Amino acid sequence: MSHSEQQTGVTESTLGESVTTQTEQGLYIDPQALTAHLPALHYRDDALYMEQVSVAALAKHYGTPCYVYSKQAILDVYQAYTDSFASLTHQVCYAVKANSNLAVLGVLAQTGAGFDIVSRGELMRVLAAGGHASKVVFSGVGKTKSDIEYALTQGIGCFNVESISELTLINEVAQQLDKAAPISLRVNPDVDAKTHPYISTGLKDNKFGIAHEDAVAVYQQAAELSHIDIVGIDCHIGSQLTEVAPFVAALDKVIELIHKLNDKGITLQHVDLGGGLGVRYIDESPVTIDEFAAALLPKLSALGLTVFFEPGRSIVANAGVLLTKVDVLKPTEHKNFAIVDAAMNDLIRPALYQAEMAVIPETLPNKGLDTDAMQPWDIVGAICETGDFLAKDRLLSLATDDVLAITGAGAYGFTMSSNYNSRPRASEVMVSGDLHQLIRKRETIEALYADETLWQAD
Ligand code: LLP
Repeated sequence: MSHSEQQTGVTESTLGESVTTQTEQGLYIDPQALTAHLPALHYRDDALYMEQVSVAALAKHYGTPCYVYSKQAILDVYQAYTDSFASLTHQVCYAVKANSNLAVLGVLAQTGAGFDIVSRGELMRVLAAGGHASKVVFSGVGKTKSDIEYALTQGIGCFNVESISELTLINEVAQQLDKAAPISLRVNPDVDAKTHPYISTGLKDNKFGIAHEDAVAVYQQAAELSHIDIVGIDCHIGSQLTEVAPFVAALDKVIELIHKLNDKGITLQHVDLGGGLGVRYIDESPVTIDEFAAALLPKLSALGLTVFFEPGRSIVANAGVLLTKVDVLKPTEHKNFAIVDAAMNDLIRPALYQAEMAVIPETLPNKGLDTDAMQPWDIVGAICETGDFLAKDRLLSLATDDVLAITGAGAYGFTMSSNYNSRPRASEVMVSGDLHQLIRKRETIEALYADETLWQAD
């Protein structure tokens, strides 16, 4: 620490373009600097807006906790993918697991997106939202017979196959239905995605994919099966990747396989590079879609195949916020707790992945860092778990009933929410320009136990 830092207790983050200041008391996130990186959000006269709609008005109208998504922000990222890869025949298959609200899927379907799904439920959502099964890839390690039947009957675009037993099952089901099942093998390239271990998928030790050493032999087996139509090759190495190198390393391994397959007379129509592009939550500097494209395009162009992508987080994370209200302020001798009306059941990322997500006030209390007016707060829910926190040691100036926005919450927020502690799941709202619409009602408490019965058997 330099002398001046010792005096002030303040150290600037070393990351370029940082929006944070780490003080001895806690982390200050500059709300205006943060929102400068979030196209959907801005402050107008010290009040937070999503597109042209006041966040205070949304919180009042729909109540909290409430997820709010910007339609334009979703479309802009989708467009950035299609523009960056315009020189190739490609299909962006949005990963439904990131945010599966029908309105989100519908907006993407209308603009031409395909979808990456991992369950029959996700496929049903896509179809209900107006998507076409032919533009859907079906990922996941545990597809059941009924999943496969349903997908084949709907005319699924491709199964991303993760094991020999799955391949055999798909062949059997396709035979019964008298159809040819389009498949890719998901290969596991054994590349370190350099991300959180829970969301790293492309290492030998992970449960995903077929080892790249075995892939040619499995393709040869697939080619022998009567009701399998080999259409592509697939890989997905992890999520929230901030560097391009692991993507390039994985692609190189996939290209090597494509050449080996061609030598064996197996030709493909598409290569699917999965999802995984990271986003800036606070100070991260992930590779941009343009940089990602620049690194991959030369290699992909040389292949002459259609290219599929399966982005989830990068399309929706920063299009969304979780609005929450401060219910109770509980300063203690060691820590200050702000108990808010959202909790780990609404947003589990901080508890599950130690994810740092920004919490910004709806109203700017003052400009910039003001250590006199601000206190370090742990932003926590009302759930009976110590792991129930949304953020820790954040320098904020808080009062009861303040509305806070947790940014970056559009991906893996609502979709991972639960009813733990018999808490109804939050409502969801979409904003476009000055319009806003409820796209999912807040659950009622009665609905939580409506399908349960008292024991009556004796
Ligand atoms: N394709 C496959 C096969 C996947 O498993 C995933 C994500 C994606 C595409 C989309 O990846 P994305 O572009 O969103 O990174 N709940 C965690 C993330 C889990 C990701 C699981 N698979 C989180 O909140 O960080």
